[in-house]
Amino acid sequence: MKKINITAKIQICEYNELCPEEKKLINFAKEFCFRAYAPYSRFQVGVAVLLANGEIVTGSNQENAAFPSGLCAERTALFYANSQYPEQAVKAMAITAYTQGDFVERPISPCGACRQVILETEKRYGNPIRIFLYGKSETYIIEGINDLLPLAFNSIE
Ligand code: THU
Repeated sequence: MKKINITAKIQICEYNELCPEEKKLINFAKEFCFRAYAPYSRFQVGVAVLLANGEIVTGSNQENAAFPSGLCAERTALFYANSQYPEQAVKAMAITAYTQGDFVERPISPCGACRQVILETEKRYGNPIRIFLYGKSETYIIEGINDLLPLAFNSIE
């Protein structure tokens, strides 16, 4: 029997260590937490997506009384970006959440379904997406979805 070890590379830093463009993307994500429609969970997620042309597209979670009908902020933002700018590769995205009167202390990480959509977006445009997960005390930087979704299903490889 053989074993494989799967490792994930995640860089952890403080907000102050980021460059101005990175801070800008995170600030967009923070701002867009307040556009969430989250009356059920009261967990407001904001996402900012950086496109190859420099444009920043944003999204927030949109809930529904019929629970599965809602959508996470990551997919709201990515589907909007891909539908409005189908020719523009996605270069980076920032994700954060606001709940109980403050931004999360530690980063939140995208759910499985969103990871699968991030993977497909990487494949579609042929480049990895830098992912910034912002929390008040630390920010995680991940160089591509492979570190969050190893052994992924990918029919278009
Ligand atoms: N949610 C997101 O939008 N993104 C995540 O990464 C995690 C969870 C949303 C789904 C739901 O509206 C609320 O947060 C609570 O789970």
